Amino acid sequence: MTEPDDNIKAAAGVLNYGPFRLTPPLIEAALSGYSDAPMRRLAKRFGCPMALCEVFLDRFVMEVTKRSKARFYLAVKPEDHPCGAQLMGSEPEEFRAAALRLLQCGFDLIDLNFACPVKKVLGRARGGSLMADPRRALEIVQTVREALPDSVPLSVKLRKGFDETPGSEEDFFTLLDGLLSRGVAGITLHGRTVQQGYQGKSDWDFIRNVKRYLIEDKKRPDFFVIGSGDLFTADDCVKRYRETSVDGLALARGVIGNPWLFPQAAAALAGEPIPPSPDLEEQKEVILRHWSESEALYGAKRTTMMMRKFLIRYAALHPKGEEVKRAFVSFRGREGMENVLQRFYK
Ligand SMILES: Cc1cc2nc3c(=O)[nH]c(=O)nc-3n(C[C@H](O)[C@H](O)[C@H](O)COP(=O)(O)O)c2cc1C
Repeated sequence: MTEPDDNIKAAAGVLNYGPFRLTPPLIEAALSGYSDAPMRRLAKRFGCPMALCEVFLDRFVMEVTKRSKARFYLAVKPEDHPCGAQLMGSEPEEFRAAALRLLQCGFDLIDLNFACPVKKVLGRARGGSLMADPRRALEIVQTVREALPDSVPLSVKLRKGFDETPGSEEDFFTLLDGLLSRGVAGITLHGRTVQQGYQGKSDWDFIRNVKRYLIEDKKRPDFFVIGSGDLFTADDCVKRYRETSVDGLALARGVIGNPWLFPQAAAALAGEPIPPSPDLEEQKEVILRHWSESEALYGAKRTTMMMRKFLIRYAALHPKGEEVKRAFVSFRGREGMENVLQRFYK
């Protein structure tokens, strides 16, 4: 299975991400530890019009040199465009310098992470802690926006609040109003609080209310809202897209080891029949391709470590999922991986 055809794409809708017309209106979310270049390229091949890198710490971006081992994180190839980079930090000036460096590397848009719930991140006043500090968050936004050329969209990843208190909701709308007046292109909104992490369900009523608030505001009709949370099937995607009037959807855990969700969601959004799950031959072909992309980037030695977490997720599509998963937990090297394919994916 490859890209959905142009008719399906057009009928699925368009997400205007600044100057980029993304159709179908789907993006691959930033996923730390997963959304590396091989995963993003695979998403593209399956019709996802734009994929975000895993989040980068601003200081990390400034420290990577052309010769360091981490340089592949910042490598953008011609076929990757449009390609988004996401930044995390706490100091406006450090954000600014890192955003400019990312542009030099070839990224097309910058997304700021005010959503990460990891304790260590919060302890350093980064990520989700900025949901509770709108003044600081807006200072960062303004500094980065002023530094970027007008043609480069700046977006922000938010959660519904820091916690469930009314004060937190007030902070959310203070932040949102500030983004509207500072030239931000739009937001990706995950309907959980920072405190929730990944517990409970994403609150799509909240996402719908935010979209409604923006429609009533009418000041910035170009400002997009991309909804995020619990999008695991094509039906989830259609339901959330239609019920909330969001401009787009961010697919996250649902596409780890399952890039087929992109064409399935595209078809469903277009009102077309949802393509069936891939057969074993097709799963095998995609796994091999993913492995080869990884190997080309990281070298043979590191690929087992980089691919194991994906293979375990690919196993979920196999009728003998648990058995295949166990085999993927313990193999070593390309030969070991091919033995598992030989055994289970005939
Ligand atoms: C392993 C993992 C890593 C993530 N990394 C990032 C990240 O780097 N930046 C970000 O904005 N969100 C990150 N997220 C959040 C996702 O982008 C998404 O908003 C969240 O998982 C909700 O969507 P889902 O329920 O469909 O997975 C991560 C989530 C997971 C599970």
